[in-house]
Amino acid sequence: MVGKICGTGSYVPENYYDNHDIAKLVDTSDEWIRERTGIVRRHIVKDDTTVSMAVKAAKAALENGAVKAEELDLILVATITPNHITPGMACEVQKELGAVNAAGFDMSAACSGFVFAYNTAQAYIAAGVCKTVLIIGSESLSNIVNWEDRGSCILFGDGAGAAVIRAEDGEIKPCVMHSDGVKGEVLACESRHQRDWQKKEEAKETFLSMDGKEVFKFAVKKVPEVITELLEKTEYTAEDMDWFILHQANQRIIESVAKRMKVDIDKFPMNISEYGNTSSASIPILLDEMNRSGKLKKGQKLILAGFGAGLSWGATLVEW
Ligand code: COA
Repeated sequence: MVGKICGTGSYVPENYYDNHDIAKLVDTSDEWIRERTGIVRRHIVKDDTTVSMAVKAAKAALENGAVKAEELDLILVATITPNHITPGMACEVQKELGAVNAAGFDMSAACSGFVFAYNTAQAYIAAGVCKTVLIIGSESLSNIVNWEDRGSCILFGDGAGAAVIRAEDGEIKPCVMHSDGVKGEVLACESRHQRDWQKKEEAKETFLSMDGKEVFKFAVKKVPEVITELLEKTEYTAEDMDWFILHQANQRIIESVAKRMKVDIDKFPMNISEYGNTSSASIPILLDEMNRSGKLKKGQKLILAGFGAGLSWGATLVEW
């Protein structure tokens, strides 16, 4: 069996900070942020939470796919900003959807999270364990961003995206996943709950830290490599692909990948200017926008590629 995406959904909070708003918080400018990243705005939660955004995106995906919540047998939520340590987000979403027949668990793979969740869903379907899987990427990164660090706070935004995947006859498509924990410190956030309770230490407030240059170098090297590795597992070349849907981290990273792959940049859709980097949510938000605007046509071949903290990176072939 193979999983086919039958519905997509997304949700971003209405509230946003544009680059001028960020320039009131840290020493930066609209021009600098646009030039280095392509970002103009990022949407930031006000009344929403990671769970409420996930539920809204999930409901839209179920409606789009004409799938009832009771038909789901698995819910996977990719997130690094869950509402609670426990219960997991997937159980909270399951409750809100009334998905009474679904099991659920969360996956922490940062900006690779949606691709890793997609590949996991495909593996469960191929093994005959599940038939109808809901995968979600949802993040309120604004809660872990250091709003005093101009090197990182300019990049991130909040939002959620989801896809419903249904089993049909066919064989699982190639997918690739990698991790390199040795380089983990270049993009990290310590647990806020790590403390010595016996010394009665207070829980620390901790924030995301990033070595931007190292992460940039990692992305422009590993993303073309992983796409090439994926293509080598197929009978296709890069030219045979209709779309390369990359994690939206930085416009310059995406442009560099297109150049290294010698593929027309028009095949690399982008919405980073509006949302910034929404980590696990960026690929499904973009996928949903493309689906709803009619850009994705039946039979088209897509490559989804995620990369980020861990370090982690991966790619997968999707036939629409
Ligand atoms: N506004 C103005 N100046 C800034 C700035 C900001 N927001 N952030 C950094 N600078 C300054 C630096 O202090 C430095 O000044 P100096 O030369 O006087 O020391 C200069 O700009 C260049 O800094 P640098 O860090 O080399 O910039 P850069 O070209 O590498 O761009 C990033 C910084 C963060 C935009 C870039 O490294 C990047 O996008 N990295 C990838 C990050 C990422 O995608 N993370 C998520 C992956 S999932």
